Amino acid sequence: MLYLPEGVERILVPQEEIDEIVTNIAEQVDRDYAGKRLVLLCILKGSVVFMGDLMKKLRTPAEIDFMKVSSYGSGTESSGTVKIVLDVLRKDLSECDFLIVEDIVDSGKTLKYLVEYLKLKGAKTVKTCTLLDKPERRQVEFVPDYCGKQIPDEFVVGYGLDYDERFRALPYVGVLSRSVYEK
Ligand code: IMP
Ligand code: MG
Repeated sequence: MLYLPEGVERILVPQEEIDEIVTNIAEQVDRDYAGKRLVLLCILKGSVVFMGDLMKKLRTPAEIDFMKVSSYGSGTESSGTVKIVLDVLRKDLSECDFLIVEDIVDSGKTLKYLVEYLKLKGAKTVKTCTLLDKPERRQVEFVPDYCGKQIPDEFVVGYGLDYDERFRALPYVGVLSRSVYEK
């Protein structure tokens, strides 16, 4: 039996489906990045689980790097301003084909900002990859280059995604009960 902790209403994307999604994205990335200097850029913290699974499935040699941004204060609404908390430390950006690895796209502000930021810093190429996308929530024009699954406008947790730092370690993506944040 799968463990459904209190506060998680139901499973939205089960483990087996996540595994198929990640395999599929890895195949596309392998096709597109042959012969390139692939750098997987994990956006902390939500993307660590996805990033770990994705990098294991790739055949293309890839380097990894990390950035941390904050746009969410707490709760389920974004503050809307993207702040870089941890920057890429490498200096050879002009030689790197960056693939930003993100857990979920919501307003679109984080990834739109990061793509422009890395291009301004001189990255050779920048593309984006997200496990999940909530297109209904978009506030700026943004389309990810690789997307695992589009989901409806619900707040989800698990597989790296959190609600106030909780639920990241669940092996599936589940829907957070409204009673947790609507008091
Ligand atoms: P955006 O800038 O509004 O697209 O926000 C993207 C970020 O918001 C993601 O990296 C997540 O950290 C967070 N986020 C958006 N929706 C959810 C959700 O349903 N569950 C958990 N985190 C979310
Ligand atoms: Mg995130």
